[in-house]
Amino acid sequence: MEWAMSLLLNHPHILQKARNEINTAVGNCRLVEDSDVTKLSYLQCIVNETLRLFPVGPLLVPHFSSEDCTVGGYHVSKGTVLLVNAWALHRSLDLWKDPMDFRPERFIGGVEGEGEGFKFIPFGVGRRACPGSNLAMKTVTLTLASLIQCFDWERADGELVDMEEGAGLTMAKKKPLVAMCTPRSSMITILTQL
Ligand code: HEM
Repeated sequence: MEWAMSLLLNHPHILQKARNEINTAVGNCRLVEDSDVTKLSYLQCIVNETLRLFPVGPLLVPHFSSEDCTVGGYHVSKGTVLLVNAWALHRSLDLWKDPMDFRPERFIGGVEGEGEGFKFIPFGVGRRACPGSNLAMKTVTLTLASLIQCFDWERADGELVDMEEGAGLTMAKKKPLVAMCTPRSSMITILTQL
């Protein structure tokens, strides 16, 4: 959520596109709700693009081979601990066009260049992949949609939001996001009824 809002504040035209989608799909006579999420495909692309650049678990979760096996031509002995660098895959020049750019459009209609293998894996892949991925995508998209629908957002000091990553096994921001929000005049009636 924090990375998504930071990226949107640094790319106001993308924030505006997300708002236009919410205006069209939901309007301003009621709050966005979970059943609207399927209609907000551009916002889902924004969440995907955020998870590509800033995967919550950059090294996923360590895996441990219970048997000898061969993966991608490499022999992996029983008892090997395997770390997958999702962060590097998500930013690889071999796999993505302009990987450092924040460009949600690359997810329109699926993952850009689909068929190139498991190149987008914020939730892992296979039998041990995250069982909460649908819930996570829906919750993050809905919460972002509510924030965009109800408030106007601005950078606190006019400067670009600092996107430096902090240390740790999860992807924290080095400097927490500080932003300014103002209730949208068209949503005041709804907001005062909450
Ligand atoms: C944006 C939010 C989330 C992200 C990015 C995320 C990501 C991940 C990742 C990378 C793994 C490890 C996959 C692997 O072993 O390769 C994982 C495992 C797991 N996640 Fe999530 N997750 C999220 C939200 C959730 C939610 C909402 C739930 C439950 C309601 C959940 C439940 C689990 C569980 C139980 C596992 C362990 C699965 C296993 O080892 O078999 N996650 N998640």
